[in-house]
Amino acid sequence: MSVRIAPSILSADFARLADAVATVEAAGADQIHVDVMDGHFVPNITIGLPVVAALKRVTRLPLDVHLMITDPDRYLEAFATAGASIITVHSEAVTHLHRTLSRIRQLGAKAGVAINPATPIGHVQEVACEFDVLLIMSVNPGFGGQSFIPRSVGKIAAAKAMLAAAGCPADIEVDGGVDLTNAAALVGAGATMLVAGASIFGTANPGEATQALRRAAQAGA
Ligand code: DX5
Ligand code: ZN
Repeated sequence: MSVRIAPSILSADFARLADAVATVEAAGADQIHVDVMDGHFVPNITIGLPVVAALKRVTRLPLDVHLMITDPDRYLEAFATAGASIITVHSEAVTHLHRTLSRIRQLGAKAGVAINPATPIGHVQEVACEFDVLLIMSVNPGFGGQSFIPRSVGKIAAAKAMLAAAGCPADIEVDGGVDLTNAAALVGAGATMLVAGASIFGTANPGEATQALRRAAQAGA
């Protein structure tokens, strides 16, 4: 199983986003993780539709848009139009999750569902065949550079078993505190996509950090 590396631009220089994306794209990143926060679902405000549209013009990589916003249904079509390849909503932010995930697929994007550290896997079990990506938050969402919550490793393994039992093996994406020290364990437990912000853009050489993370991840495959 190959692992997809998804650098999160949350830790990049927002005044030089095109350069940041070009650097990790040249280094072999698989997708660009874009963190959209509304200051309501999470205690931080970041970027939104215009930035997704602008990134779409400067990269060929899929844009992996992580919506940390209340009532994401209002914006699904707009993010699909802006160029999102994956649209991930938080299970905690949506009332009719089956409907929301179906709508994302109808719009031509891959459907993702994220669960916070306090949310059990069972919360998404009944819709296991309606999403393409299960994003397991390994920090509380809202900020880059936080410490990885160790219990997340067991949660990944449980998610893998749940998806296999459902007969719908979606990608398992891990987001928060991912770095060279835990990448192999995450992949070993079943992660197929690794998001990394601080451990890539917080380093002196994001291109090299991208490649180092891939090597570390493959050691767990
Ligand atoms: C946090 C975001 C993450 C963040 C991860 O709420 O969803 O995508 O960028 O950053 P690091 O890798 O620095 O923990
Ligand atoms: Zn994220």
